Parts: sequence; C-alpha cells; structure tokens
Amino acid sequence: MQNVLSVIQASTLYFQKNGVESPRLNIEHLLAHVLGKKRMELYLEFDRPLGDAELEPLRALVRRRAGGEPLQHLLGTAEFHGRIFTCDKRALIPRPETEQFCEIVLARGPAARVLDVGTGSGVIALTLAAAWPEARVEAVDVSADALALARENAARLGLTERVLFAQSDLLESVTGEFDLIVANLPYIATAEIAQLAREVRHDPLPALDGGPRGLEIFERFIPQAARHLRGRFALEIGHDQTAALTELLGAHNFQDILPQTDYQGRNRFLFANYG
Ligand SMILES: C[S@@+](CC[C@H](N)C(=O)[O-])C[C@H]1O[C@@H](n2cnc3c(N)ncnc32)[C@H](O)[C@@H]1O
Repeated sequence: MQNVLSVIQASTLYFQKNGVESPRLNIEHLLAHVLGKKRMELYLEFDRPLGDAELEPLRALVRRRAGGEPLQHLLGTAEFHGRIFTCDKRALIPRPETEQFCEIVLARGPAARVLDVGTGSGVIALTLAAAWPEARVEAVDVSADALALARENAARLGLTERVLFAQSDLLESVTGEFDLIVANLPYIATAEIAQLAREVRHDPLPALDGGPRGLEIFERFIPQAARHLRGRFALEIGHDQTAALTELLGAHNFQDILPQTDYQGRNRFLFANYG
C-alpha cells in the first residue's frame, strides 16, 4: 500500500527524470490539492495510506506536470502577494518578479487614480486596489479572455466595485488622467519565444510577444502614456532593455528615470515621473 511519503518520494524522482524544476515542491502541491489539504499538513500525515480513489486523479496530474503543463494550471490557482488568484490559460501565470514589482510600487505610497495596462489575470491592479482602499483603479487589456479571468479574480477577492476592467489596445480606449500608470506588457523578442521553457509556452502568446525587437509595444505605449499621466510611471521590463527604454522615456520628456533590480540583481523594473 502506498502512503503519502512513498508517493512523494516516487513522484519526486519521476519529476526529476522528466526535467521538472523543484520536483518535491511540485508533488507536494499536487498531492495536497488532490487531498484537499494545505501542503504543510502533508508533513503530519506521511504514514496515511493512499488508495485508488486518491491515486488515480493524482497520477493524471503527475503525468501532465511531467509533460510540461505548469503547476498553476493544474492547481487552477496561483498565489500572488499573499492572495490566491484563479489561474488558467486565458492569461499569463503571474511571476515572482511581478510580486516584487508590486512591492516596490506599494512602498512608494498610494496614488488616487491608478491605471494598469496589460492587466492579464488582474494581479497588479487587484493587489494595488486591495492595499490602497482610497484609490480608483482602472485596468485594461487587449485580450477579452484575460479580462474575463481578471473580473473573476476581482469577484473572488471582493474587489469588483473597486477596479474597473475594460478592453483596450494599450490606451486607445482610455480616457482621463492618472497619478500612477503601471504596466507589465509583453517584452520578449518574437524570435526568443521558441527558446523559452516548455512551461512558458502554455502562457498565451500575446502575453509574451513584444515584437521583433521586444520593444515595439513600449514604443507605442510610452507616448500614449504621456498623454494620460500626471505623476508616476512604473514598468516591468526585460533585463536587457534598460538603456533603450531610458532613452525612449527621455525622448518623451519623462523625468527621474530610475531602473531597479530584481532579487537576482537584474535590471527588471523602470520607474519615472511625468507631468
Ligand atoms: C506579460 S503579460 C502580464 C499580465 C499581468 N499584468 C501580469 O503581470 O501577470 C502582458 C499582458 O498584456 C496584454 N497585452 C498585450 N498587448 C497589449 C496591447 N496592445 N494592449 C493591451 N494589452 C496588451 C496581454 O494580453 C497580457 O495580458
């Protein structure tokens, strides 16, 4: 008879052989999901026997994970900045770098009128809205699928009244002025996408593809943002885009342009002021 510990050990090896990063963490998450438990609760139940009713659904998930499906898609959720968001193929899986981006934005203090461009699952807009009860937050995306997911996440977090989601190609359909515009838009050069990890290829292509040089979306976005911004600008960017984007922001009269590094020491965020 298999038990919790033997299944964790065998699946960890299987994941290792199939190139899954953090293999033990992955099987713990999947097993906890199947058993309806918190991951840490497994540690109190290593001897618990597991029967077919539990093992069959687990085996299906383990096979899919070993085949490269992202853990968050199998769980149907992702944790972001201490909150649980619904997560599926309609939008990018939120990344730890974006949590760090939110932390830096939050540390700079609240803003009254906030716009999140390319909101995806809504993680940035909803995190800022939850932290800043006085803020009026708007969020746009070109993808109707992503917006449907973002609205589900707003409902899940009780923030439906606080965040206005709308479909827009960048700021084409946006009116009014904002004190803070934030964006994590696609910045990967088209030719690099085929080389990304197999899990990343489960993200929607329009969430990744930044055009032939990876800069084309910023080149449209930055002059548009200048027309709507009276305050702070915050971008998540590719690690090799700081020089090009600093020049672009300068050319459009943004001031106080400041790159910031992620936990790995790479320049992944760019802040500026306008107006
Ligand atoms: C890198 S994903 C980021 C999603 C989310 N902000 C996050 O941090 O997890 C980029 C998002 O920008 C959206 N997007 C791409 N091109 C766009 C455009 N021209 N106008 C508005 N949104 C766009 C994509 O649909 C996708 O949801």
